[in-house]
Amino acid sequence: MYNTKIIDLKENFESGVSEAVTLIMNDELVAFPTETVYGLGANAFSDKAVGRIFKAKGRPQDNPLIVHVDSIEMAEKLAYINDEAKKVLEEYWPGPFTAVLKKKDIVSDIVTAGLDSVGLRMPKNKAMLEVIKRTGFPIAAPSANKSGSPSPTEADHVETDLLGLLPLILDGGTCEYGVESTVCDLTKKVPLVLRPGRVTCEQIKDFMGAVEVSPNVLTPLMSEEIPSSPGMKYKHYSPHADVFVIKGEKNHVIESTNKMYDEDLQNGEKPIIFCFKEDTRFFKGRKTMIQGENQNVDEVAKYLFKNLRSIDNDGYTRVYFEALPTSGMGLAVMNRIIRAAGFNLLLVK
Ligand code: TXA
Ligand code: MG
Repeated sequence: MYNTKIIDLKENFESGVSEAVTLIMNDELVAFPTETVYGLGANAFSDKAVGRIFKAKGRPQDNPLIVHVDSIEMAEKLAYINDEAKKVLEEYWPGPFTAVLKKKDIVSDIVTAGLDSVGLRMPKNKAMLEVIKRTGFPIAAPSANKSGSPSPTEADHVETDLLGLLPLILDGGTCEYGVESTVCDLTKKVPLVLRPGRVTCEQIKDFMGAVEVSPNVLTPLMSEEIPSSPGMKYKHYSPHADVFVIKGEKNHVIESTNKMYDEDLQNGEKPIIFCFKEDTRFFKGRKTMIQGENQNVDEVAKYLFKNLRSIDNDGYTRVYFEALPTSGMGLAVMNRIIRAAGFNLLLVK
């Protein structure tokens, strides 16, 4: 067990970075803030360090890690990048975009879980970039949560899941976007989005002329299917409460939600309705959790994981969530909430 130290980057940027550098050089783990979610980082060139990530998270060995770089030049040492892919990286890096590319031999099979591709991302946050630059090592980092629980968007969430399992958490406040990066396979003729995120499918299509979206973004994998992105086969983001996503005409969604909520109360459950501020009026007298205002989906995304964590802390047993349109960031939110719900989608006419 470690006596986990937490350093606030706003007040102690320099000491935070230099302690992280020392730890990364010594094959230890460091939790870093990024613009998407917190990452649990280790030297991607050290199998020993990377092994510690899987152990601390309780992550299945067949789920590959994203490798974080500080530049396209560093990415080129790790993967084969043609001119077209390079243009994409120039457009979206630094930022919430992970490119799946054919890996070079220097990248260990432990990082890629035996795949011949590697997911690469250049994040925006200064601390992680600085640690990569000073160590010269790319940093392998999955989200810094226990496997299966919602990704951490605040240092507190990392503490809840991993306290004692790593020596250092860098606290950079609340993450800007709140959902993990867009994972896009650039080894295909047409770029294939494996996990939607802040760089939307529409943006990729505009930029590259075409895009495909993995059908598993919104549907469960069938047991015999081979996942294009191994992370998609695992149950994800699940609070202990049962989550229901309800889709249909607004009036019917409201009616069904209220009916189920009232039945829950009679059955001794503790239900809560996630909704936009302006929609609380439809659920009068019932407990709601405000997701954001003015139908702003970015706000829903930013606080989604935090809200999912808080319902467990507050002892809610059932959560109702109205399905969002799947355009833009709506797809990223639906991809996460539908997994949190164990694919419990209720269609109401
Ligand atoms: O925003 C993010 O991407 C955060 C921050 C820390 O950068 N990281 C993150 O990592 O979300 P993780 O491990 O929680 O999710 C990585 C996803 C998994 O679904 C994994 O299967 C997929 O990316 N992935 C990684 N490498 C891949 C590859 N070579 N081919 C296909 N999918 C890959
Ligand atoms: Mg994750």
